[in-house]
Amino acid sequence: MILVTGGLGFIGSHTVVSLQEKGHEVLIVDDLSNATIEVLDGIEAASGTRPKLEVLNLQDSVGVAEIFQAYNITGIIHFAAAKAVGESVQKPIAYYQNNLGSLLNLLAEIEKSHKPIPFIFSSSCTVYGEAETLPITERAPIQPAMSPYGNTKQVGEEILADTVNALEGFRVISLRYFNPIGAHASNAIGELPLGKPQNLVPFITQTAAGLYPKLTVFGNDYPTADGTNVRDYIHVVDLAEAHVVALERITSNETSEAYEVFNLGTGKGSSVLEVIQSFERVSGLKLTYEIGDRRAGDVVAAYADTKKANEVLGWKTQRSLDEAIASAWAWEKKVRGL
Ligand code: UD1
Repeated sequence: MILVTGGLGFIGSHTVVSLQEKGHEVLIVDDLSNATIEVLDGIEAASGTRPKLEVLNLQDSVGVAEIFQAYNITGIIHFAAAKAVGESVQKPIAYYQNNLGSLLNLLAEIEKSHKPIPFIFSSSCTVYGEAETLPITERAPIQPAMSPYGNTKQVGEEILADTVNALEGFRVISLRYFNPIGAHASNAIGELPLGKPQNLVPFITQTAAGLYPKLTVFGNDYPTADGTNVRDYIHVVDLAEAHVVALERITSNETSEAYEVFNLGTGKGSSVLEVIQSFERVSGLKLTYEIGDRRAGDVVAAYADTKKANEVLGWKTQRSLDEAIASAWAWEKKVRGL
């Protein structure tokens, strides 16, 4: 049984579908803090299988121990975490407690079980900050985190790297995501941000759906081709598939080191204006937007060097930016009844 924490969330739910399509049995643990129970129906519709669900916040160490007693857990993919950058600046204690407390409770149970349960960690390209060299390889230096959220990812990776040294046979892969977007082809699951979206693509689709009058592009005076920030937008289904490949890599003893890191991106940078153009192309709509001030904390450009993921992990993206944006728009229309 594969434990997927945060399995009702955006990336988690798509990963559960990919796991089930490959025949893995899945147990989701989710506290419903940023997801709804209906996502379970969506996962079932997308994959044909309803995963098991335990509603629990992983900070509850007794609850976590009970899960490990009740189920034969043979792999863990750990998504459960709070992820709002701005909120983490306001609530650092809550962020460290939740994101690191959850991780520590899982690791304590793995230690107690005396079984080296394969572990996949949800990390972020945010650990590279403003990288000096593009595209970004896994060897790029880690920069001081710009937010408590980002720091929980850095410290989480350090905790895992220390733990593999201490627990015999324990193997971990940290996956550093670039910008996940899009929705499953079945249109049964997708991104469901609570409140006003902070991320670009849900803000675009919600604006087009009429929830907001216009999108503000955060700055067009950056040193990039068109002056707007460049990011590596990766289809969430491609990203989900990488988790299955990473898990199977540990399970089949293919890892070369006990702690491995992979960047997950397409390798292609797209500017904010290019994303808007893609949306207009696939939707046939005109998006209302204005150029505004820069957003504090944004890096100029970030996109992945995909060589290690391609050659060592044996995974690469299959889906284009237009496909990802089209799927995000199809999902938004469904959610809004359009
Ligand atoms: C953000 C986080 C990152 C986190 C990731 C998780 C920051 C600084 N970074 O990445 O740490 O791992 O989300 O989802 O918050 N944009 C606009 N207008 C908008 C929204 C966004 O122009 O209304 C631009 C941003 O300036 C940026 C790009 O779109 O250039 C992508 O923004 P976003 O989707 O928030 O992702 P990141 O900032 O790359």
